[in-house]
Amino acid sequence: MVAARITVNGSETPIEPASPHTTVLDFLRERGLTGTKEGCAEGECGACSVLVARPGVDKPTDWVAVNACLIPAAALDGQEVVTSEGLATAGGPGTPPVLHPVQEEMAVRGGSQCGYCTPGFVCSMAAEYYRPGRCAHDGPADGADPEHGPNGFDLHALSGNLCRCTGYRPIRDAAFAVGTPTGDDPLAQRREQSPPAPVATAYTRDDSAFLRPATLDGALRLLRERPEAVVVAGSTDWGVEVNIRSRRAPCVIAVDRLPELRTLHVASDHIEIGAALTLTEVERRLDGRVPLLAELFPLFASRLIRNSATLGGNLGTGSPIGDSPPVLLALEASVVLADGDGRREVPLSDYFTGYRQSVRRAGELILSVRVPLPLSPVTAFHKIAKRRFDDISSVAVAFALDVRDGTVRKARIGLGGVAATPVRALAAEAALEGRAWTADTVEAAARVLEAEGTPMDDHRASAGYRSAVLGRSLLKLYAQHTGAVSS
Ligand code: FES
Ligand code: FES
Repeated sequence: MVAARITVNGSETPIEPASPHTTVLDFLRERGLTGTKEGCAEGECGACSVLVARPGVDKPTDWVAVNACLIPAAALDGQEVVTSEGLATAGGPGTPPVLHPVQEEMAVRGGSQCGYCTPGFVCSMAAEYYRPGRCAHDGPADGADPEHGPNGFDLHALSGNLCRCTGYRPIRDAAFAVGTPTGDDPLAQRREQSPPAPVATAYTRDDSAFLRPATLDGALRLLRERPEAVVVAGSTDWGVEVNIRSRRAPCVIAVDRLPELRTLHVASDHIEIGAALTLTEVERRLDGRVPLLAELFPLFASRLIRNSATLGGNLGTGSPIGDSPPVLLALEASVVLADGDGRREVPLSDYFTGYRQSVRRAGELILSVRVPLPLSPVTAFHKIAKRRFDDISSVAVAFALDVRDGTVRKARIGLGGVAATPVRALAAEAALEGRAWTADTVEAAARVLEAEGTPMDDHRASAGYRSAVLGRSLLKLYAQHTGAVSS
């Protein structure tokens, strides 16, 4: 097996002597690439952003910005990374490097003050600069769409980057001023070639191992041999455990590049979403095909996190406040699991069994999530959190209702943050189904919904607040659907 290495700014760099737990952030800084900064070490500030070459949606390769603090360096074995240092191009002898266009705009528009956040902003901005189709977005000449620039720049690309100095206006000015890549731009040209193929990795040091099997069978065999192993896809959850709680695992198994977990298939009666597709990939490939998921994605986490996080990971952790389970419960999704003996499909409503527990057995992998078709047409996802974006839910509610001829034919409501597991609001569903879609019905069902779950008091919200929010959420859905309010 070839020694583990990463191509960093065009140069092959051995991963040794890093430990299997060393993050990409520390790996880069230990090699002198100190533009990549540590702010929080838990995926919230973006100071550590770097670009990774990934399979593209509209081009063979996309430059994707990720949080280097969360990803083990060994997870990028055989891959290509570009840091803020690599964006500038070398000047001639005796002349300074030539700034990349996004660096230039940040400099001339005052987007950088102390500069601590700047390399991270620049990497996230560069990913958006190179996003295929960016300029196809009709920008707001009149400022009607404050989240997109006239150059099509989507400000959500920066949703995972925090700056404590300059305020965001000059940074936004820089983002909205960047042009389009020129024909001789090497990173733009790189998009036309395939990204590096995933490589099988067995990186072992100091009694711990990072393993990347090449095939699904290999992964299932490994899981059977090493039941104590931690399974990771984007590592957005495990990376926090490593950095903040100092957890170490004797064996980490990466499944995020397994081809069987990376397909998205639309059939006549269901949509099957591979468990290891990143949320960004699912979002772009579905392109609004499932409106409830389209509503979820911007609220799930920052773009930086969505560039690594997966549905399989969100279900695998079993968190009661994960954002995808309420939506998938409302969509009546099921989970496809596999082990060495075969596959089985479990309705998501039967999947969670207790706090961070599920029916998934040791040695089983989540292969995919199946969403049945047709979809119910009246849908909404309401996430109540202290911040609108990039925050953990206090309560999350997802609705999928089939309302025809003034009657609720079917109601599915998924809840997060009000019990030890994500739950369906079965009593409220029953209070709606078969009844006229009227204010009286909805008010009665809202009172039923308030009593669903077993909400607790914690630092995010009180139990009483959580219950009240549930009822208001249904009233809001009704008001939006019947046109009483617009948002
Ligand atoms: Fe804050 Fe990585 S250091 S997101
Ligand atoms: Fe100081 Fe952003 S310029 S943190």
